[in-house]
Amino acid sequence: MRKTLLLAAALLVAILPAEARKAKKFTHNTVQIPQVSRQVIAVETDNTALVFLVRENGQLMMLHYGARVGDPAQYLAAALSDADYNTLAGMAYPASGGRYIGEPALHVKYADGTHNTELYYTGHQVTAREGCTTTSIGLQDYVTGMEVKLVYDAYGKENVIAAHTEIRNGGGQPVALLNYASAALYIDADEYLLTHFHGAWAAEMQLEHEVLGHDMKVIESRRGVQATQGNNPSFLLSLGTREFRENEGEVIAGALAWSGNFRLSFDRDDAHRLSILAGISPFASAYPLKAGDTFVTPEFIYTWSAEGAGGASRNLHRWARKYSIYDGGQVNPTLLNSWEGAYFNFTTETLLRMMDDAALMGLEMFVLDDGWFGNDYPRNGDNAGLGDWEPNRTKLPEGIDYLAQYAHGKGLKFGIWIEPEMANPASNLAHAHPDWVVQSPGREIYQGRNQWVLDLSNPAVQDFVFGIFDRTMQLAPGIDYIKWDCNRVVQSFGSPYLESEQDRFYVEYCQGLYNVMRRIREKYPRVIVQCCSSGGGRVDYGALRYCNEIWTSDNTDALSRIYIQYATNLIYPACVMASHVSAVPNHQTGNVTPLKFRFDVACAGRLGMELQPRNLSTQERALAERCIGSYYKYRDLVFSGDVYRLASPYDGSYYALMYVSQDKRRAVVFTYCIHFEPRNVGGKSFKLSGLDPSRTYRVQELNVDRSAWWGNGQAFSGSFLASGAFNPVLPQQYSSAIFYLEAD
Ligand code: DGJ
Repeated sequence: MRKTLLLAAALLVAILPAEARKAKKFTHNTVQIPQVSRQVIAVETDNTALVFLVRENGQLMMLHYGARVGDPAQYLAAALSDADYNTLAGMAYPASGGRYIGEPALHVKYADGTHNTELYYTGHQVTAREGCTTTSIGLQDYVTGMEVKLVYDAYGKENVIAAHTEIRNGGGQPVALLNYASAALYIDADEYLLTHFHGAWAAEMQLEHEVLGHDMKVIESRRGVQATQGNNPSFLLSLGTREFRENEGEVIAGALAWSGNFRLSFDRDDAHRLSILAGISPFASAYPLKAGDTFVTPEFIYTWSAEGAGGASRNLHRWARKYSIYDGGQVNPTLLNSWEGAYFNFTTETLLRMMDDAALMGLEMFVLDDGWFGNDYPRNGDNAGLGDWEPNRTKLPEGIDYLAQYAHGKGLKFGIWIEPEMANPASNLAHAHPDWVVQSPGREIYQGRNQWVLDLSNPAVQDFVFGIFDRTMQLAPGIDYIKWDCNRVVQSFGSPYLESEQDRFYVEYCQGLYNVMRRIREKYPRVIVQCCSSGGGRVDYGALRYCNEIWTSDNTDALSRIYIQYATNLIYPACVMASHVSAVPNHQTGNVTPLKFRFDVACAGRLGMELQPRNLSTQERALAERCIGSYYKYRDLVFSGDVYRLASPYDGSYYALMYVSQDKRRAVVFTYCIHFEPRNVGGKSFKLSGLDPSRTYRVQELNVDRSAWWGNGQAFSGSFLASGAFNPVLPQQYSSAIFYLEAD
């Protein structure tokens, strides 16, 4: 009888469809979730609060982000009832599974093929260091063992929170992370105006405003590298309004510190509340996490202000200068860059004469751009040489050392360009290491700007890239500055090194880049690094942890630059915005603008020049010297002052902004006419901001013999200057004026 039964069971197993057999493995043993005490956890800065509720069942909900609320425990009484949590919208870090049906911050696929994760509070702790309080909240899935730690660094004075998440596979089997956002926010307002940035080569950071409806809005980059040339991983969100307001109203500004593929999503639910997720893009990146391993996400940085976009920008800038940008408090030198003045066509002599001129005009550094390297494959155009980083013996027989010494002898610092992540097929490197190139088996390796991308997920390539930087630094004692370029996106991706684990590629490329940069900073803490990627292809707070400044765009036309700088500066402080005066007609747009206008625009960032000085007339050189000289008077304000935007170039014919010292004693005001305005004969009135109303400021226009403003040279109270009485005459398109203010 027993035998018969066993036979029948075996037969049943044999005839049951595979699916049904698998289903038999599912059990319905409900895991017991430990009850916890209902409590509020508040992450606070001087003026803001991020408030969470721990429910008795251990679910962690987000209740509030915005103004500081007094005792956050007040929220205990106000918290929603259980019925309101039916779909679990508003979870602090929503995981795919359980009752949650929205966009997940965390989506895990387990070894048994299941996708459910339910996270419950396990505890939290608060630690403090100078200026920053860290709150870490532990969550766990009691079925799979998945563990999540939400970490919030709250910078008190700056009112900025930098949030990241640590995801640990506490189960016994490997899993795949399908979504792994850095953090989530859940916001309640009547209206949401999203301001974000799109772009293209030579037109980065173009502003777009969008009133959010109920469909999900996603801002994403899948470019692999050069990730921010299209979209930037940052935004401003105006609450309760359909209008972008500079000086008033509640605004949240956010930015992801990551230089690879990113994704920001904004989902307005049926209760009209807004769920925001920011993190690495999950595109082709189902990240494998072995048992016991932890994945640490990049930081999502955000701030809230009731003083409009201006207040939000100032919070972010103050935080970035102090805590995020490499050497953020430091003033970086003015410079002459060889690119638009010489391109690939130079000899030692050309460069020496440029250095002579740079020194004579009062600049502080000379930067040798592309074209200095490659011998078997000389870099005389963009089609050869990338990868072979020895100085070209024909163009520069005396070597780089000779150039650097010459610069130093002239009192100039010396900088040099590299593009270490790339190789031209026409290079010794590409021949020697074909397996170092990003490629997909059996497919064409597509070129972009005649070059291939090196596979930075491969540690051997990381060593090589570090070596390029290291050897370049050894080319001469005292190389002061490296311009790090990166001129294409990843296409048809694949890593020979990662073999069957291609899902790791995009994440590990970026981590590989950061590994290299970390090593560089350990060895070369003082060298100034400019982060360039065909212009603004790597404008993000991840890269800025290692870099001192960014090249915001290859478009050096002053008019285009106004739009690019205006928007860049909404999120990133002026100290990182390299801005160069170039020749006219402009090489990118063909636009012709006066030299003074070009200087006045470039002086609102880190001033540089990028032209052949020999082509300037005597008067132009005199003006250049004057503008450069006066820049040093207020440069510290550009680098560390608070920005106040007085007129947006998107709103009319003028652009104006000012930087005010932290003690409000000094300020510099930049004003520009970008379109002819016939009614401007009586002057254009601007309300100066950020000044102390009770102080008296002497106003001095710079770089002119006849001032554009009737009050030039006189002293006025801060309140008078804020009243609209400041009205310089900017009569024509490209009229511009810079005013320096100092309290008596
Ligand atoms: C792109 C950069 O953005 C330019 O400034 C210049 O360095 C070129 N690359 C050189 O190839």
